Amino acid sequence: MKIIELKLGKRSYQIKTGFGVIKNLGREIRRLNLGTDAFIVTNNRIKLRYAKNLLKPLKESGINYIFKTVADSEKSKSLTSCLRVIQELARFDQKRKVFIIAFGGGVIGDLSGFISAIYKRGVPYIQIPTTLLACVDSSIGGKTGVDLKFGKNLVGAFYQPRLVMSELSFLKSLSSRQVRAGLAEIIKYAIIKDKKLFVYLEKNYPKIINLQKRALEHVVNRCAQIKSGIIQRDETEEKGLRTILNFGHTLGHAIEAAGNYQKYNHGEGIALGMVLAGQISKELGLISENVRSRIENLIKSAGLPVFIKGLSLKKIIEAYYRDKKFIGEINRLVLIRDIGKTVIKQNVPLNIIKDSLASRLNL
Ligand SMILES: NC(=O)c1ccc[n+]([C@@H]2O[C@H](COP(=O)([O-])OP(=O)(O)OC[C@H]3O[C@@H](n4cnc5c(N)ncnc54)[C@H](O)[C@@H]3O)[C@@H](O)[C@H]2O)c1
Ligand SMILES: [Zn+2]
Repeated sequence: MKIIELKLGKRSYQIKTGFGVIKNLGREIRRLNLGTDAFIVTNNRIKLRYAKNLLKPLKESGINYIFKTVADSEKSKSLTSCLRVIQELARFDQKRKVFIIAFGGGVIGDLSGFISAIYKRGVPYIQIPTTLLACVDSSIGGKTGVDLKFGKNLVGAFYQPRLVMSELSFLKSLSSRQVRAGLAEIIKYAIIKDKKLFVYLEKNYPKIINLQKRALEHVVNRCAQIKSGIIQRDETEEKGLRTILNFGHTLGHAIEAAGNYQKYNHGEGIALGMVLAGQISKELGLISENVRSRIENLIKSAGLPVFIKGLSLKKIIEAYYRDKKFIGEINRLVLIRDIGKTVIKQNVPLNIIKDSLASRLNL
C-alpha cells in the first residue's frame, strides 16, 4: 500500500493506493471519526460486483450503511438526480451521524462530492474510485459538481474528501477502452510534470494496459502525488497553477463536445487534445519535432486516437468557442516547452489552432 498526504491545513487528507486497501475501510472511518452511518452512492454495475468488499469492513466496525444507486450515465451528474439522492439521504439521516461514500467512477465521485458539499452545508465524504481515471484524477482535489444542459460541470463546489481509497483490484473489470481513458490522464501527468514518468510509460505502457500490479500501483501513486502537489499550492485554481492540469483539455473538450460525448470518451478526447497541444507547441517553436513525435507515439502506442474521425473542423471550432475556459476574446492554452515543463500561452493565433486541427482530421 502507498500513502500520500494531501496537505491543506484542516482539510488535509490521505490517499491510500494499493491492492487490499479496502479491508481497512471500517478502521479508517473510525480513525477519522466520520460518523456511524454510511450513505453509499454507487450504480448497479459496481454494487453487484464490489458491494461485498465494502460490507465486510463496515460490518466489522459496526457501521450502518445504505446503498443509493444512480443510473450508469453522465446524466446522473444532473440537478435532478442530485435532488433525488439528497431526499433519500435526508430520509436516512434521521437521528443519525451520516457521512457519504462515493463508490464509483468520476460521475459518481463528482455527484456525491457535490451532495456532500451542499447537504446541511457540508457532511464528510470518502472517495472510493473504481475507474483508473477516477483513481488518478477525479477522486483527488475536491472539484465536485453536476452538469447543466448548457455545459458540463457548470454547477459545483470545491469540497475536499476526508479520505481517498484507491482499491486497485476493482479495476480488473474495466473495459480496455476505459483503462486506456485513464492511461490518457496518466500520460498527461507525465507530460506536464514528470519526464521520468514519461520515459517509464514509453517502456512500460503495456503493463498498465494489462493492469500489472506493481506497475499500476507505481503509476497511480505517482499521479496522485503530482496532482496532490498541485492542489496543495493552488486548491481553488486562483493562482493559475492548477490550470496546467488542463493540458490537452481545451481542444480535447471541444472534440468530445463536437462528437456529442458519444464518439469520443474523455480520455480519447484529451489524447487528441494532447497531440494537438504538442503540435501547436512545435508550431510556436517551443519544442522540437523529436519531442512532439515522442508524445504522439506514446499516445498512439497506448491505443488512443491521434487522428480525429468523422467530425468537421467547423463543429469542433464551434464547440471550442463555447468552452468556458475561453476568456472573452482571448484564448489561453496550456502548452509545453519540454516534456515535464508547461507554459501557458494567451492569444494563440486562431489559424495555428485551425491548421493543427485540419491536419488531424481524417474523415
Ligand atoms: N472532479 C474532477 O476533478 C474530475 C476530473 C476528471 C474527470 N471528472 C469527471 O469524471 C467523469 C468521468 O469519469 P469516469 O471516466 O470514471 O466515468 P464514469 O464514472 O462514467 O465511469 C465509466 C464507466 O465505467 C463503469 N465502471 C466504473 N467502475 C467500474 C469497474 N470497476 N468495473 C467495470 N466498470 C466500471 C461505470 O459504470 C461507467 O459505465 C466525467 O463526468 C468528468 O467530468 C472529474
Ligand atoms: Zn481530464
